Amino acid sequence: MILVTGASGHLGTAVVANLLKKVPASQIVALVRDEKKSTALQQQGVNIQIGDYNDIASLDNAMKGVTKVLLISSTTLTRLTEHKNAVDAAKRANVEQIAYTGVTMKGLETSPIKPLMTSHFETEEYIKAGGLPYTFLRNSLYTDMLPVYVGNQVLNTSVIIPAGNGKVPYASREDMAEAAANVLTEQGHSNKTYHLTGNALYSFYDIAALLSDLSGKEITYTDKDPAAFQDQLKQMGVPEIRIQVLSGFAASIKNGEFELVHDDLARLLGREPSPVAEFLKKQYS
Ligand SMILES: NC(=O)c1ccc[n+]([C@@H]2O[C@H](COP(=O)([O-])OP(=O)(O)OC[C@H]3O[C@@H](n4cnc5c(N)ncnc54)[C@H](OP(=O)(O)O)[C@@H]3O)[C@@H](O)[C@H]2O)c1
Repeated sequence: MILVTGASGHLGTAVVANLLKKVPASQIVALVRDEKKSTALQQQGVNIQIGDYNDIASLDNAMKGVTKVLLISSTTLTRLTEHKNAVDAAKRANVEQIAYTGVTMKGLETSPIKPLMTSHFETEEYIKAGGLPYTFLRNSLYTDMLPVYVGNQVLNTSVIIPAGNGKVPYASREDMAEAAANVLTEQGHSNKTYHLTGNALYSFYDIAALLSDLSGKEITYTDKDPAAFQDQLKQMGVPEIRIQVLSGFAASIKNGEFELVHDDLARLLGREPSPVAEFLKKQYS
């Protein structure tokens, strides 16, 4: 029995869809915290468990009879405690494998996004210290997040973000999900750390060039001054927390903290990861 947490989210939904290609629905448990978001999963015959990382009893209940767990990272700044609750429940259930979706990056100690990212590495340490067989799926930034950085109307405007010439090996959430489903259904992934990245690095100059090719008109990239970027977002009514997160990621990209290309994702998929151009075409055409 394989339990997927965050199963109502983008990644979790895609992992369950990929698992369904490999194992019967009766072998899959989807942990969701809001029953209303479980309708599609229920229709696919997947077992639903209602639970929250902050509700230990619900986690214990969900883990009954489970042999493998995919812990999809939570979204909050207090997620380390939430993750620890899930890991502890997995330990009590004596599962055979726990996989965790962290991040692949460098320069954490001086990173502008350290407060958010440090919990990924602390969660991994906690899992290791607990002694359960683990698989760490360290995700690069999702290609799917590009519209968040460049906007949905970018073909009519331009790319404006204070990310310098920093580059990222974007990988699609769909590829990450397929790789996770493979890890959960294949042998040989115990106590392994995988760096799941695309196979090429892209700066926002490269993204603007791809968007120009796609639209047939010149889409420029402006490496805006960070303070002016924040002011612009404020004037547009973007909530402060979102401004801080976007600015933090832009600064981290500018520092080159995501400039790491590995072939782990290609090896887990048995094919090259989907190209960024393919995603942009689907998104913006
Ligand atoms: N690498 C990247 O570029 C990138 C980008 C964005 C996020 N991430 C990370 O990757 C994770 C998966 O991404 P995603 O796109 O699938 O995010 P998502 O769509 O926001 O999904 C997050 C999932 O976690 C669930 N969740 C949050 N807090 C929970 C709690 N306290 N108890 C139980 N479940 C909880 C959510 O439940 P609800 O549906 O009820 O909210 C949702 O199912 C994110 O959570 C985040 O940590 C990575």
